[in-house]
Amino acid sequence: MVLLRPTVSRPTHLAQAIEDLKRQHNAVILAHYYQLPEIQDMADYIGDSLQLARQAAETDADTIVFCGVHFMAETAKILSPHKTVLLPDLEAGCSLATSAPAAEFRAFVEAHPDHTVVTYVNSTAAVKAVSDYCVTSSNAVQVVNSIPPEQPILFAPDQYLGDWVREQTGRENMLLWQGSCEVHEVFSEQRLMDLIAEHRQAQVLVHPECPRHIRQHAHVVGSTKALLDAVRQGDPHGTFIVVTEPGIIHQMRQAAPQATFLEAPGIRSQAGSCTSCNECPHMKRNTLEKLWLCLEHQKPAIHLAPEVVERARLPIERMLSIG
Ligand code: 13P
Ligand code: SF4
Repeated sequence: MVLLRPTVSRPTHLAQAIEDLKRQHNAVILAHYYQLPEIQDMADYIGDSLQLARQAAETDADTIVFCGVHFMAETAKILSPHKTVLLPDLEAGCSLATSAPAAEFRAFVEAHPDHTVVTYVNSTAAVKAVSDYCVTSSNAVQVVNSIPPEQPILFAPDQYLGDWVREQTGRENMLLWQGSCEVHEVFSEQRLMDLIAEHRQAQVLVHPECPRHIRQHAHVVGSTKALLDAVRQGDPHGTFIVVTEPGIIHQMRQAAPQATFLEAPGIRSQAGSCTSCNECPHMKRNTLEKLWLCLEHQKPAIHLAPEVVERARLPIERMLSIG
């Protein structure tokens, strides 16, 4: 039997090796709140989609290592096209981005020429390239409110975020693309109600990618940053039911070490307590080892056609200038 040796030696101290490579390549590590705790702990900046897009636009590092999913790294590349943007696992996708294939989306936009196209950043660069405005869950209401009320809007790809924005703005003239997040769509209302009944004092924190029947139980609806802020401003000894991807609880625990955090169960989770049941399978593809490997080999890197970058930049910059 022939034993195959790995072509690279495996560092015993991954964290130190990552720090060394970071310095060598003048790199910055950006991590989304849904990343594994050990990745969040290595990051220079942790944030929601909007905070990370701003960091990507402002950094003076030569290399951006984006610990998140593909559309987030693409957004960083669009904002900093001359930098190297690395994604530890190129397969880290997003069901929302997949739900709006570029050719179908373009045809939909062309069929509604009188509509302003507002696109959630959870979309591909090609979809952003045929959009007027981008939004994140942090600023979607603000961006939509900046568009004259009589102007019809085509909102894509998340039907639930779109529904929430419609509710918040009172705007009826929003046509919604029927995409959804495979993580936020599958929380169980019955099990959530059972959990609320068991913990009557708990604050219920819900991401707006959840459907309305889940959102109606919320004390706070907001982006991952908004939910974290609710913990920071809430009772330090309180109980919080977290209805979003559980990676965010790592930062919530640091913000309120004495508080109790309960994960809301999904329709596929076992009844009773739930631990890491509703993880995003894409976010969780990145590991510390892949982070080290991508810094070591400077790949996988994001590459985009210059014309896509040029066209997709405009709706993102409009968004950043509004909120
Ligand atoms: P946030 O912008 O709220 O962090 O959301 C990103 C995301 O992918 C939620 O599923
Ligand atoms: Fe996409 Fe949902 Fe995962 Fe966020 S949680 S990256 S919206 S699949």
